[in-house]
Amino acid sequence: MARRAAARKTAKRAGKKSTTRRTPPRKAATARRSTTKRAPARRPAAGRTAAKDKTLHDLFLDTLKDIYYAENKILKALPKMAKAAHSEDLRAAFEKHWEQTEGQVDRLEQVFALLGQAPKGKTCDAIEGILDEGKEIMDEYKGCEALDAGLLAAAQAVEHYEISRYGTLKAWAEKLGMDEAAELLDETLQEEHQTDRDLTVLAEGEVNSEAMAA
Ligand SMILES: [Fe+2]
Ligand SMILES: [Fe+2]
Repeated sequence: MARRAAARKTAKRAGKKSTTRRTPPRKAATARRSTTKRAPARRPAAGRTAAKDKTLHDLFLDTLKDIYYAENKILKALPKMAKAAHSEDLRAAFEKHWEQTEGQVDRLEQVFALLGQAPKGKTCDAIEGILDEGKEIMDEYKGCEALDAGLLAAAQAVEHYEISRYGTLKAWAEKLGMDEAAELLDETLQEEHQTDRDLTVLAEGEVNSEAMAA
């Protein structure tokens, strides 16, 4: 009996031990600990603290560099789009906007000068993507009637991007008390709006009807 009782005690102890082993409180504790440990990993917030030193003026200059890069890319893309267009009106619209874009680059250089900075571009991934899509349309719809409709859509995507950027830059220039810069940026903004309207007229007119008739 005494032996059996001793055996039961041993089994009980072993059971307790095995139960302790089976339940993973340690894992839970580890998980909690690792969560706690992860907190300091959020420290990049320290980087954000450092970024607090950056001002609206810095943002204005960065965005100016972004649109300067974009306009120079557009200057290279427009002649290709004009060459690809089937419609004479669409080709003329692209050629006209190419000339305007040269003036817009010139205005941006004037804004850089007002800031006492040399004109410099900063890679703009957004315009790269929009222009890549335009190139894709030119490749995939080459020789198709629907090409002009695709070119128009691509060109309007470019205009809408520019309208967004120039609208923002003009507002920031006003906020920063840079009236002359705001005027220059507004001049370009109005040109982009007009180009967008002209493209809409073309899109609603012959280009889309030709694509539908094909
Ligand atoms: Fe432009
Ligand atoms: Fe434009």
